[in-house]
Formats: sequence, C-alpha cells, structure tokens
Amino acid sequence: TQDAPTASPLLEWYDRHHRDLPWRVSPPMAKRGVKANPYHVWLSEVMLQQTTVQAVKPYFANFLAKWPSVTDLADAPVEAVMAAWAGLGYYARARNLKKCAEAIASQHSGVFPDTEEGLKALPGIGDYTAAAVAAIAFNRQAAVMDGNVERVISRLYAIATPLPAGKPLMRQKVALLTPADRPGDFAQAMMDLGATICTPKRPACSLCPFNGSCEALRLHDPEQFPVKAAK
Ligand code: ADE
Repeated sequence: TQDAPTASPLLEWYDRHHRDLPWRVSPPMAKRGVKANPYHVWLSEVMLQQTTVQAVKPYFANFLAKWPSVTDLADAPVEAVMAAWAGLGYYARARNLKKCAEAIASQHSGVFPDTEEGLKALPGIGDYTAAAVAAIAFNRQAAVMDGNVERVISRLYAIATPLPAGKPLMRQKVALLTPADRPGDFAQAMMDLGATICTPKRPACSLCPFNGSCEALRLHDPEQFPVKAAK
C-alpha cells in the first residue's frame, strides 16, 4: 500500500505551477497576509460557474472598470448589469449578482460577510460560492467542491459510489484534506489540478503531485473515476 494523501505536495505544485488569474493575489502579497479582495473573488466565482477561465477574463475586467466596488454594482441599473453580462449566458446569474450586491450594500454596509454561513445567507450564494469566497478571500477552512474537485478527489480515494450519491463522502474527504493554514490556495490548487493535470480523459499522472498517493492510479484506472451511475 501507499501513504495517505496530504495537502503538502499539492501546495508545493501550486506554488510552482499556479495559473496567474486576475482575481488571485500573487504569492508575495499573500505571504504578507494580504488575502484576495472578496468582491473580486465573488464576482469571478459567479462568472466561472458554467463558463471557462479564458471567456471570463475580459468580462471580469470590464465589470471592475464599470463597478470598482460591490456598492457601485449595487447602485447600477439592472439593465446595465444585464448588458455587461451579455454573452456569458445563464442570465439568472447576473440577476442574482445584482440582488446579492444590493443585500451586501443595504444589510452589511457594503462589507462582505467573512464566514461561510454569513455568505450563504445572501441571495444567490449557494454552497459552492460561499465555500469558495470564505476559503479564497478569508482563508477559512471551507470545503470547496466543484466538478474538477469531485474528479480529483474521487480518483485520489477511488470512490466507487457514483454522483450524486457519492458527494457527501467526497465532501468529507475534501474537508479532511483541506489544510488549516492555506485553505484558499488548496481549493484553487485542486481546481487547477483538475483543469490541467487530472483531466477527464488521459490525465497526466506522471506530472501529478499526488501520484504517490492516488488510489485510482494504483488501480491503473484513473479514467474510471468519478464512477458513472448506471442508467
Ligand atoms: N474555477 C472556478 N473557480 C476557480 C478558481 N478560483 N481558480 C481556478 N479555476 C476556477
């Protein structure tokens, strides 16, 4: 058998290979304890649901140019927000974005709640977004789960239960693996790993920081995970 996975090799990989994305804080700033701007993190995470990183970049820049703070977005006419969103798709996201900004402005004096629970109480913020903002912007030890993370974790532990039934076990594994000191970097490292190495087809296991502790790789069949439900 092999050693149980730990976060350290993933974080070392992330320090060397992380993608430079506009909503991330660069490592020198991060080392001085400066976390990413919660407004930037929230906006990027909502945009990244169902949309690729490359497609999101110009929209993200345009939104920040038009509305530099969450209160600016709250004050914007909804038609202007919808127009700026045009092309990103799933327009309910834009409507919810505006409603959420209004709630932060009116109920929280324009300051983002800094806990998962506080974030989840806002309109349009679900489990994923609350966990992502809590971890990335506030360094809270939240378990961040999206499709990429589900794939990585199901392979790492060779989870045989198909989705969605396997989700609670996957969440438990992610929570146990999430380190107290760098939960935001860990979440983003899992997403980057899923996007670039632990891909659905032909994963690049030789380059993976978990290749000494991945149960699916040991079984010689990473592509089998996550297991598909029988029809
Ligand atoms: N996909 C969604 N959120 C992401 C993030 N913060 N980093 C990389 N990919 C993502």
